[in-house]
Amino acid sequence: MSYLSGFGNEHATEAVKGALPEGRNSPQRVPFGLYAEQLSGTAFTAPRRENRRSWLYRMRPSAGHTPFVPYAQGLLRSGPFNEVDASPNRLRWDPPKLPAGGVDFVDGLVTYAGNGDAASGTGVGIHMYLATRSMVDRVFYDADGELLIVPQSGRVRFFTEMGVLDLAPGDVGVIPRGVRFRAELLDGSAIGYICENYGAVFRLPELGPIGANGLANVRDFLTPVAAFEDVDRETEIIQKFQGKLWSCKLDHSPLDVVAWHGNYAPYKYDLARFNTINTVSFDHPDPSIFTVLTSPSDTPGTANCDFVIFPPRWMVAENTFRPPWFHRNVMSEFMGLVTGAYDAKEGGGFAPGGGSLHNCMSAHGPDKASYQKAVEVPLAPHKIENTLAFMFETRAVIRPTRYAMETSLLQSDYDACWSQFEKAKLPKQG
Ligand SMILES: [Fe+2]
Repeated sequence: MSYLSGFGNEHATEAVKGALPEGRNSPQRVPFGLYAEQLSGTAFTAPRRENRRSWLYRMRPSAGHTPFVPYAQGLLRSGPFNEVDASPNRLRWDPPKLPAGGVDFVDGLVTYAGNGDAASGTGVGIHMYLATRSMVDRVFYDADGELLIVPQSGRVRFFTEMGVLDLAPGDVGVIPRGVRFRAELLDGSAIGYICENYGAVFRLPELGPIGANGLANVRDFLTPVAAFEDVDRETEIIQKFQGKLWSCKLDHSPLDVVAWHGNYAPYKYDLARFNTINTVSFDHPDPSIFTVLTSPSDTPGTANCDFVIFPPRWMVAENTFRPPWFHRNVMSEFMGLVTGAYDAKEGGGFAPGGGSLHNCMSAHGPDKASYQKAVEVPLAPHKIENTLAFMFETRAVIRPTRYAMETSLLQSDYDACWSQFEKAKLPKQG
């Protein structure tokens, strides 16, 4: 697959030489009789640095389709998340199992939690996809938000309107709101996490005193070159709109964009490229130093959602408890694990494909095994390897779905990992 490098910048790409109009966005006649269509991901008048839009040149207008009718939504849920009460408890889930029979990316979406709602353009939905079949003759798009996809197992080829995005575990991909795609499974099955972002589009965090380089570098973000399919066969479009799925049929594939230009497009990023910053003296810095992407809210520094990773890295801090200490956070934290073990949960229970939720002000931190190791280990430089955990951290309380609270994957004994701590021994008083 071919990709264009950069983040949020203007790209121009054509799958057929001469298809891309030059010097005009909307010429009177587009080459080859293609149809011009603007796809706006931000308001027309959004400030220039925020503005996201692309011009698509396609074989047929995407306006040509029959009315949408409701489609069964299985275990997919959306904001407002009010099926069950928000829980103040620490919650943790075992990895899910693949469904029996053939289930594709859309039918295999399972919602664990979320906050805000699509109607007001705030919050996130947190889903997993469990797929055992490629999408054939149907495509999906999400009108409620962009999809940040974190594969956990199995490679997936996302054939989008704007080109082909191949994702493997260790990559993340973002498919913008409204962009249509089909998910093909390259390994027969696939499991992964999704942050459906109802809020401001993800962007790179500011670097402040870190300087001009570091964290995720702009040039490592990859956007597909234009690719299309010329298929005159009945195709179903499924869209998510205001929390519900809807379906319509057309007599051709809508993945027929022959050329496009603009700055609103899918992209992917190999998390192994992340330039990890950490202390070289002492103390455990806040995990904001591991922010890959951020969706800001209207309150500076208080994200609608931060996507944070815990990648392989050297630990060198002197006289320091190196894992995260106990903490209570006004922001809410959903964590997942792509591979390996997370350094604050060495006692087991947080397995690849699993998840945990530590909501606003919920006390959490290392389990007993991690604590014991961290206070006893000689503090030589040490590299944490073969691990990749991540966090969706968000300003609003993350509300679980009924499924998440009732599934047998929910661990009933999670609290026990903090029950074995001995009382501190003070010197005799008075
Ligand atoms: Fe935490």
